[in-house]
Amino acid sequence: MNALSRYRPWVVEELRRILALDGPLAVLVRYPLGLAEADGSPGPGIGGKLLRPCLVLFACEALGGEPRRALPLAAALELVHNFSLVHDDIQDGDELRRGRPTAWKVFGVGQAINAGDALLALALRAALTADLPHPARLQAQEALLSATWRMIEGQALDLGGEGRPMGVGEYLAMARRKTGALLGCALALGAVSAGRPDLQNLSQELGEELGLAFQIKDDLLGIWGDPEKTGKPVGSDLLRKKRSFPVCYALEQDPELSLWLSQPEEHMEEILERLGKSGAREAAQKELEKHLAMAEELARNLPWPAWARATFAELLAFLATREA
Ligand code: IPE
Ligand code: IPE
Ligand code: MG
Ligand code: MG
Repeated sequence: MNALSRYRPWVVEELRRILALDGPLAVLVRYPLGLAEADGSPGPGIGGKLLRPCLVLFACEALGGEPRRALPLAAALELVHNFSLVHDDIQDGDELRRGRPTAWKVFGVGQAINAGDALLALALRAALTADLPHPARLQAQEALLSATWRMIEGQALDLGGEGRPMGVGEYLAMARRKTGALLGCALALGAVSAGRPDLQNLSQELGEELGLAFQIKDDLLGIWGDPEKTGKPVGSDLLRKKRSFPVCYALEQDPELSLWLSQPEEHMEEILERLGKSGAREAAQKELEKHLAMAEELARNLPWPAWARATFAELLAFLATREA
């Protein structure tokens, strides 16, 4: 992701520093990030896109702050994200993440729960070390915890929706939480660390729109993406009976689809055909572009310099077209 790639080395260094640990939890927290293999030997390196932490640093710098000061918060947010993924893969029963076997697949479910819990504890500890003046540090911690809570609310709504019809409206409320919360938090943390708490709410809202677009794209990739590129198994969302945007949309057009969806293993071809006929793919692309446009609209109210607007435009293009 070119737009934010210049922040990546800082984040990688900070995460490596935080995760340079010994003891029984070391391999459990280092494995999901790609820093270790399951036997403790060196891993392939940090595998994720680091979208959230890079956004924290961008949002801080764009509002005139010193991005390095936001680094502990950026790392904390990435650790919360990794906590969510480790638990999410247990909940979704997914066996592949970032092209590698998921934590529960290599350590077992029990230890993967410990891995997720430990990542959350590390995240909260990292956030304590942010070098910010008194009210800002507390505000940042509050923002991180609220977003974590909202993300888990989203996960609860997501799991609660499996196997029963969910309308597009209900889907959007779920996705705004499960994915929007942390992306919103990225921009909010940037504002707080730049000394602009007055822009925190607007930043959160903007990030949530990015998050909605991001999740809808994730749903599209989950059905029609190239598993070589996404590092995630193909059709797994359909097999899990997950209420993705295309499925929620198609069910509103074609309620009979739910019969086929209840037995996805046997009816994958029919399901894909009906999804195609309902226009769900096009509707999802349109919906994600709507949320990117809303983000663009909200961004007009932020006092960003020209370089930040150019970077943001590049980011929006990436979110609309990404393949991984
Ligand atoms: C995956 O997030 C989970 C969702 C919220 C859709 P990312 O696609 O940002 O995951 P990584 O960190 O780059 O692997
Ligand atoms: C991921 O949601 C969101 C969180 C982990 C909070 P999904 O379950 O839709 O994402 P992937 O496809 O597994 O990354
Ligand atoms: Mg999942
Ligand atoms: Mg999930």
